[in-house]
Amino acid sequence: MDPVLNPYRPGAGRRPPVLAGRGPLLDSFTVVQRRAAEYGEGDRGWVLNGLRGVGKTVLLNEMQSQASARGWITAKVEATAGTPLSTALSHALVSSMRTATGRHPVPKLKRLLGVFKAFSLKFNPVTGGLALGADVDLVSGVADSGRFADDLSALFETLGETSRELGIGTLILVDELQEATKDELTAVNTAVHHLGQDPEPLPVTFVGAGLPSLPAQLADATSYAERLYDYRPVGLLSEEAAEAALVGPSLQLDVPWNDGAVARAMDIARGYPYFLQAVGKHVWDAARGPSIEIDDVEIGGELARREVDEGLYRSRWERATPAQKELLRALGDIGGEEPAVIGELVSATGKRRVSDLSVARNELIKKGLVYAPERGLLAFTVPGMSDFIARQP
Ligand SMILES: Nc1ncnc2c1ncn2[C@@H]1O[C@H](COP(=O)(O)OP(=O)(O)OP(=O)(O)O)[C@@H](O)[C@H]1O
Ligand SMILES: [Mg+2]
Repeated sequence: MDPVLNPYRPGAGRRPPVLAGRGPLLDSFTVVQRRAAEYGEGDRGWVLNGLRGVGKTVLLNEMQSQASARGWITAKVEATAGTPLSTALSHALVSSMRTATGRHPVPKLKRLLGVFKAFSLKFNPVTGGLALGADVDLVSGVADSGRFADDLSALFETLGETSRELGIGTLILVDELQEATKDELTAVNTAVHHLGQDPEPLPVTFVGAGLPSLPAQLADATSYAERLYDYRPVGLLSEEAAEAALVGPSLQLDVPWNDGAVARAMDIARGYPYFLQAVGKHVWDAARGPSIEIDDVEIGGELARREVDEGLYRSRWERATPAQKELLRALGDIGGEEPAVIGELVSATGKRRVSDLSVARNELIKKGLVYAPERGLLAFTVPGMSDFIARQP
């Protein structure tokens, strides 16, 4: 069928035509937005943790666009090893501040702009002096000590006070939060903790997204993090949701899937959101129409598998050294899609002690191929990796 009309969106952070299975999470977010707007009150911070390609970034984008549509102050950043989180945040808030000055009465924003400017000059000297869309009198001594934890707390507080006065909220989103340093995680925890101390918490919502190791990393930074956040694991889609993700987009274009075709496609994609989009895309391109039949799925499914193999799994596999590959293979054999116990990996690789595996294990964690869901366990960060490895000679 016409590839120009193809509705499926395999990739990273690309909004799927049907955002399937995330209704409950988005409903809770609606509650957060209404509490902020109607009562000026904020929620706990949220953590969205899940494997690669399950749809975390898509959810952050959706939350940001909903909050922006309500006139909220929002900032979304991606933590990366190269850029301090403080700089990235200050940078992302600049455009939000400029939008705010166009939307809300400037006198009510004066203090926030002044505090933000001082914060920016401290942490983002290059662009910290950028115009914010209104005349700003620097407010010094609030969020410019240079200690990120204190300054972030003070900035969140000022954002919250201003938001409450304006009848809006502030939404701070950090993607790939597992990449932040321990000091940065401590600062984030401190600032979110500080917000929550008020009997009527200010309407600032922090949402961090990252790999399944993120909750443990946050707890490692400050032990109270376990109770600080509302942890919302983002997982594979249920059967019903996977079907909606596959069938919904083409039905919107009046192209139905025959029952056998849907079942076969679901079998291939196994509820993995990225894979569902890839299957949908290739099946659509392979189909002659007017409906989608099982042989379209056989052809498209194979092409999708190849795309996912090359785009997702192969580069990860090839980045591994022979010793690391041996460990990955053992992990696939023993754990499959589930975590494996390190002790069993030791015997499966013919080693004697856990420490014999630690170099390979640590390197693979650093490369982002595996993570430790708990002490003594190891698992893949990408769904379907064990399947791929089993197919490698
Ligand atoms: N709920 C959903 N329904 C259907 N498709 C989805 C859903 N969520 C995400 N997708 C699709 O899955 C793919 C991956 O989404 P996204 O990039 O948000 O994942 P991620 O969890 O952020 O991955 P990573 O950890 O690699 O950053 C995209 O092609 C997106 O369109
Ligand atoms: Mg992402």
